[in-house]
Amino acid sequence: MITKLRSKTLLVLAAVIICFSCGRDSSISEAPGSLVVSEGFENPIGFYDNEPSFSWKLPDSETIKSQTGYRIVVAGNSKLLPKKADLWDSGDVSSDQSAWIEYDGPPLISRQKVYWQVMFVDQDGNSSPWSQVASFELGLLKTDDWKAKWISLAAEEKRDTTEKGHSIIRPQYLRKAFELDGDIEQARLYVTSRGVFEAQINGQKVGHDVMTPGWTPYDKRIETLSYEVKDYLNKGENAIGLIVGDGWFSGRIGYNRKHWIHKPVPTAICQLEIIYKNGKKETIHSDSEWFGTRKGPISFSSIYDGEVYDANLEMKGWSNPGFEADTWIPVEAKDMDADINLVPKRHLAVKEKSRLTALNISEPEPGRIVFDLGQNMVGIPDLKIPVIKNQKVTIRFAEMLEQDGKMYTVNYRSAMSTDYYIPSADGVISWQPKFTFHGFRYVELSGFDESVSPQKEWVTGIVQYSDFEKSGYFSSSHDKLNKLQSNINWGLKGNFFDIPTDCPQRDERLGWTGDAQVIAPSSIFNCDVHAFWTSWLQSVREEQQEDGSIPFVVPNILGKNFSSGWADAATVIPWEIYFRTGDKKVLEENYEMMKSLVGYYKSKAVNHIANVNTFGDWLQPYAKNNRNGGDTPNDLIGTAYYARSVDLTMKAAEVLGYSKEYTEFKALRDSVRRAFEMEFIDSQGKLTTENETQTGYLMALGFDLVSQEMAQKVLPRLISKINEADNHLRTGFLGTPLLATVLDKYGLTDLMYTILFKETYPSWFYSINQGATTMWERWNSYSHEDGFGDAGMNSFNHYAYGAIGQWMYERIAGISPLDPGYKRILIAPVPGGPLKFAEAEYNSIYGKISSGWRKVDTGLELKVTIPPNTTAQIIIPIKKGMKLLVDNADLVNQTEVSVVMRDETSMVLEASPGSYLFKTML
Ligand code: BGC
Repeated sequence: MITKLRSKTLLVLAAVIICFSCGRDSSISEAPGSLVVSEGFENPIGFYDNEPSFSWKLPDSETIKSQTGYRIVVAGNSKLLPKKADLWDSGDVSSDQSAWIEYDGPPLISRQKVYWQVMFVDQDGNSSPWSQVASFELGLLKTDDWKAKWISLAAEEKRDTTEKGHSIIRPQYLRKAFELDGDIEQARLYVTSRGVFEAQINGQKVGHDVMTPGWTPYDKRIETLSYEVKDYLNKGENAIGLIVGDGWFSGRIGYNRKHWIHKPVPTAICQLEIIYKNGKKETIHSDSEWFGTRKGPISFSSIYDGEVYDANLEMKGWSNPGFEADTWIPVEAKDMDADINLVPKRHLAVKEKSRLTALNISEPEPGRIVFDLGQNMVGIPDLKIPVIKNQKVTIRFAEMLEQDGKMYTVNYRSAMSTDYYIPSADGVISWQPKFTFHGFRYVELSGFDESVSPQKEWVTGIVQYSDFEKSGYFSSSHDKLNKLQSNINWGLKGNFFDIPTDCPQRDERLGWTGDAQVIAPSSIFNCDVHAFWTSWLQSVREEQQEDGSIPFVVPNILGKNFSSGWADAATVIPWEIYFRTGDKKVLEENYEMMKSLVGYYKSKAVNHIANVNTFGDWLQPYAKNNRNGGDTPNDLIGTAYYARSVDLTMKAAEVLGYSKEYTEFKALRDSVRRAFEMEFIDSQGKLTTENETQTGYLMALGFDLVSQEMAQKVLPRLISKINEADNHLRTGFLGTPLLATVLDKYGLTDLMYTILFKETYPSWFYSINQGATTMWERWNSYSHEDGFGDAGMNSFNHYAYGAIGQWMYERIAGISPLDPGYKRILIAPVPGGPLKFAEAEYNSIYGKISSGWRKVDTGLELKVTIPPNTTAQIIIPIKKGMKLLVDNADLVNQTEVSVVMRDETSMVLEASPGSYLFKTML
């Protein structure tokens, strides 16, 4: 709301300034680029947002430093641009804002295609040319845009069960043949399912997405996919087909049997909308005229258990016209449910993102060949193997191998994670499963044609995750630190599978909120996950209970529940996304949820102490009695997170302009903080709890729960706990992300480097020394000395400890936002530990930011890039008496860089956009 108000005000302001874009020759030759709408979408179709925002980047140029004005024009036809924008013309706006400008024209409707262009004025008042025309096309925004019916085959009378007693719902193949009697101008397929689907038109898979529509709270909202399908269609005869598998809706999900025994049959819905060249429109949609069968080749599919494919049941041409579907039976067609929203998907679906080839093969048991892909990954195998007719091929997966080279699968718990292929002829098959995914590094094959000697090329790993790109890069002179960076990235790839999951391999793969909140900042540095997070936050809002509590998994399949440190994903993630992107919409969308969570804490707290349920400092090492929840008591964690959630809600209120609520939250936060100090810290700064934990102290200092004076007494306690552990961490999921924050805040970066570079248990490098290629659930999920940790909780792909990635970008390399969204950037590297150099890049909404330092004989070299339309504060470590060169010239001669302050150990500079090389020397 506030942004709407602001944009109105800006328009009024614009009216009084001179017209800088009308009829004047542009005086800059480069146009703005990278035009995106809302959370970074480039020319989307089937777009979800009919109140979009616009963002662009200024061109990279020596002379263009910043923007002082812009004009956006929006039209329903590209030919109307730029002069006759019929939807919205922002007019000439005096503003340095080049991101998240809200559309302010008439309401946009389903299917509408919208074109837009932008131009800007630079710091000297020069106008740019118009950008290229960008566009977006809205999807079906409302449930009543759908004429189609939900279709499925009638439920089986009796379901088969797997050998472990899991019920089998056979995938359905559904089809319809139809004729098109004209030349096609445009065709869109809108489609979704309860379950997972693959759509085919005339024998060809539509799009490249997999496991669509992904996972939302299906009883409230199901996301729809939209595809451009003109090229799939013919004038004349056509056919459309859908394969519908169990997925998250109908399949076994959750570790508790009661969460999956009575699952309904999956259903699908689709609408193929055609516009002919002569303007005529036609719609083909799912209805009672479709036919289906359960006797297709995919006879079983399950997220946890894998897929069974019987090639004898292949139905050649089943989604082509002319296929004889004599044995197929009519589907049941059902009307829309009024209370379930069908809306366009808010972020890009999962798809194949890369491939891994096998590095080694071994045969630990006769006839069982193990392929090592060299990297723990998530996705499916692509198999090209020799087979014998009707001899079942078994494909098993594992993250690790046992000592004897056999597959270690006990940590998958009840997930069978096994695919089977039944060949219909001798020869070489090429096959990939469709409706399952596995977390694995190793693939074991048995049942293939043993007369052929196995080749590495038989198995390729297809890496699948939500379709985002890298947004950052980090590298250093230290191999293990680089490996850690790689492991963090693989942890993200493996667990951003439509929703943020705890792990991708065992019988969980759930949207654990605690894991999500601790990884959010690191994830944003590494990947372009703005839309991924805001999309999941919508599910979090939908799953909030009436009393304001947030469940510990979203989508919630575990009933009403609450855990402090987990529920706070509802406050932490919106704030982190806002702070790191500058997009206020995430706060607007989530503010009510944040407030309600605070309300929940308030209702449970007694004298501001929140003794609420929590999983605790999960998997803290050396916990008493091996308690998974660690030694920090619930009421301390509950009260600390209560204060933290109030603090973030207070900050959101401030950004959104709710000043009264801001004041109220501030008062509440201060009361909770005081209560925390009174309850948990004695007059000497010592924890009053039974166990003095690093995490207890970290929360007190990291969430500012004690007065500044008291912090000076608490700090030595924390240091002594760390020293006592020979400078090792003793923290679990909640404490670990606070280590760097707190030690850095108090100038103890050397100690943080010591902890980070420890090679012994528990530490980040310890797991790397034991062979980790991803982040592990436990610091010692495996060790060469003791073997595997407790298989009950032993995932080798759990991203929580990857939270350290934030510090690697922010302080080892030195890039962080000073203002939300990097309008002002802080470059403040802290060279330390054994590092000789470190560098990072981050692709912000304004362009590439980079910071890289290197120790040289004369001192330190620091290379920095600051994108246009931002400014940076650069803090350079430099001792008294040393001088600083900028691009090999004396600092005093610089116009783009000025000194703000200098003390004994550093110099603070203010820099405008550009690339700089700083050198310190005696
Ligand atoms: C999950 C965790 C999660 C935890 C709750 C586990 O089973 O894998 O990552 O946060 O339960 O403590």
